[in-house]
Amino acid sequence: DLSDPLQTDPLMADLVKEWQKATFARPLVGGNDGVGAEQPVLDPADHNRSPGTVVEATVQDAHEAISLALAAQHDWSNLGADVRAECLMRAADAMEAQRTRLLALLIREAGKTLPDAIAEVREAIDFCRYYALLARREFLPEPLPGPTGETNQLQLHGRGVFVCISPWNFPLAIFVGQVAAALVAGNSVIAKPAPQTPLVAYEAVKLLHAAGVPGDVLHLIPGGPAVGEALVTDPRIGGVAFTGSTETARRINRHLAAKDAAIVPLIAETGGQNVLIADSSSLPEQVVQDVIISAFQSAGQRCSACRVLFVQSDVADKVIKMLSGAAADLILGDPGKLSTDIGPVIDAAARDRLTAHSQLIGQIGTRHFKAPLPPGAEKGTFYPPEIIEIDSLSRLDREVFGPILHVVRWEASALDKVVEAVNATGYGLTLGVHSRIDETVQRVISKARVGNVYVNRSMIGAVVGVQPFGGEGLSGTGPKAGGPRYLTRFAAERTISVDT
Ligand code: SER
Repeated sequence: DLSDPLQTDPLMADLVKEWQKATFARPLVGGNDGVGAEQPVLDPADHNRSPGTVVEATVQDAHEAISLALAAQHDWSNLGADVRAECLMRAADAMEAQRTRLLALLIREAGKTLPDAIAEVREAIDFCRYYALLARREFLPEPLPGPTGETNQLQLHGRGVFVCISPWNFPLAIFVGQVAAALVAGNSVIAKPAPQTPLVAYEAVKLLHAAGVPGDVLHLIPGGPAVGEALVTDPRIGGVAFTGSTETARRINRHLAAKDAAIVPLIAETGGQNVLIADSSSLPEQVVQDVIISAFQSAGQRCSACRVLFVQSDVADKVIKMLSGAAADLILGDPGKLSTDIGPVIDAAARDRLTAHSQLIGQIGTRHFKAPLPPGAEKGTFYPPEIIEIDSLSRLDREVFGPILHVVRWEASALDKVVEAVNATGYGLTLGVHSRIDETVQRVISKARVGNVYVNRSMIGAVVGVQPFGGEGLSGTGPKAGGPRYLTRFAAERTISVDT
């Protein structure tokens, strides 16, 4: 669209070239492309414009991948962490070199805006490099001196075949993060991307193979719940890394527990009921800017996103008015345009869930703002930013995954009650605090049971290695992705004691 001056950016020309290429995803079992019926992948911004096709894996593909992965794992583990880390470093370099292709896929397949897509490619690269560095340090045999008169040593090994099940909202970063961690820890990996976003996952696996990860060590199984279930119910697997809903994590846990097989770990990152608490000492302009980013960027489709703003009542009217004004300035539309702030939600099911929630909560709350849909929105699955005031957090019985911000007012004396209400949700992922009173900030930090607390800033966009990410309670098992303790959960520990 050359009427938009931003569209003449040179990067756009490269993206357009990528969008013109035929793209596909297929099962990759033993390094070979699987065959089967090709289905179109949907572009959430425009269903007439498919970004590529996918061949979904069969249950038989899943079983075969596990057999091959099992046979290959011992040699992969014995190669040593340095060699495996080198593969991740090379893959990171390749992702950097293939950045435009990855950006193009993220925009068309996942509906990401260009800034979101750039941040996501960056995060995937960071995961590879960070876990490579971590593995080189953590996987060195550790001598344990002591009083036994023997030589004692602690070593880390891969657990076996790790199943990695990733979500559509970070189809590259979370996909690569899980896979890279499991691989560098010495596991072979069966990766199942979300059914909505197989294309970028296929591309990432191809890059990892080209970087030296053998085809028998890393397999791609695109598909839905049937292949997912075949993978997690297989008695031969050594662990599962899952990011997605709390309900699915529970289901996986039940499958793992029911098997008459080894007891294997589940590393789950799940949902949140994320709150930002603003008191009357906070700067309204800053609160508004950070809430807009936290609630609406990525169309609210981040597990870290702000779902509820708790604003102190004496500043509430002013903040709500400013928020509505700022939300009205957001441009909703095709993420392929540089001027777009908010793209589509992932699919019709997601849009319908948001619509149903809005209708229900709208009956008991006050709708302060809802943006109109832009022309052409009916071609894809868009949901406009919305701000609804409710009287209590307990009105929300589940996570609302999209651009709907709820607002609750609180009285000055009720800070502890606010934090108790947050803890009572059972979720514990992200929490924002905006206050210029240090005592208030410290009080919230000391009482809240959440994984990531953000003070006087937005509450999304954790940086690998610097802001390890992940929650507790209904929000996940830990360890934190991009943190110093992530890799060891993918490994088994072995103590070697030698009488000298
Ligand atoms: N890692 C992401 C973030 O911090 C999770 O959604 O925003």
